[in-house]
Amino acid sequence: MWIDTHVHLNDDRLYEQAQNILIRAQADNVGLVVNAAYDLESSIKGVDLANTYDNVYTAVGLHPHDAKDYGDAFKDEMRRLASQEKVVAYGEIGLDYHYDLSPREVQKEVFVDQIRLANELSLPVIIHNRESHGDMLEILRENPISGNAVMHCFSGSVEFMRECVKLGLYISFAGPVTFKNARKLREVVLETPLDRIMVETDCPYLTPEPYRGKTNEPRNVALVAEKVGEIKGIPLEELERVLEANSRKFFNI
Ligand code: NI
Repeated sequence: MWIDTHVHLNDDRLYEQAQNILIRAQADNVGLVVNAAYDLESSIKGVDLANTYDNVYTAVGLHPHDAKDYGDAFKDEMRRLASQEKVVAYGEIGLDYHYDLSPREVQKEVFVDQIRLANELSLPVIIHNRESHGDMLEILRENPISGNAVMHCFSGSVEFMRECVKLGLYISFAGPVTFKNARKLREVVLETPLDRIMVETDCPYLTPEPYRGKTNEPRNVALVAEKVGEIKGIPLEELERVLEANSRKFFNI
């Protein structure tokens, strides 16, 4: 089966239709999805979805966009939610210097504190990184993540990928690898060690070709995987086996 390692079924656009979306995913051999959270409400919705559907696991955490909402009350909620059986990761957390919706100093502080919280909770970490490569590497070097961690929707260079792999990170590819102008990203796919790769849709965002412009959903993760297989020259059945094993190992599911 394919595993979509990063979805937002907790997003308003998908939440109400989650059942049908998951039926379509299953029909296309996408057997498991991991829901990523970005604030308190999406964390709670993710846990609800995971408790409702067998094939949904979830993460909890606060996106850098909302870093200014962080505090002790939020941390207590995360600890409470993380005690649920199907919470298998912490995130997405990190830095976003593209939108700068929270001040950078606040983003950094909150990222570091959530790394500590994830370590305390023994959860793997889903990292969001946009136009913040330098500070990202500095923080990861100074604040080691004790479990697994993944650079979700990877968007950097081959050199940045190598630094991430050196730090023990997994690299997750999303719809952009299928885009026509993604020459640099395809080079990254080619160079990334196979045992470090996972795939995701990040739905409802980043719909892969040939469906760009439509709402994304987990069934499309196969299009991302097919592109990875094509770039690396690996037969699809073999890739399916490897990616499933990588994802299960990463999330311990
Ligand atoms: Ni996301």
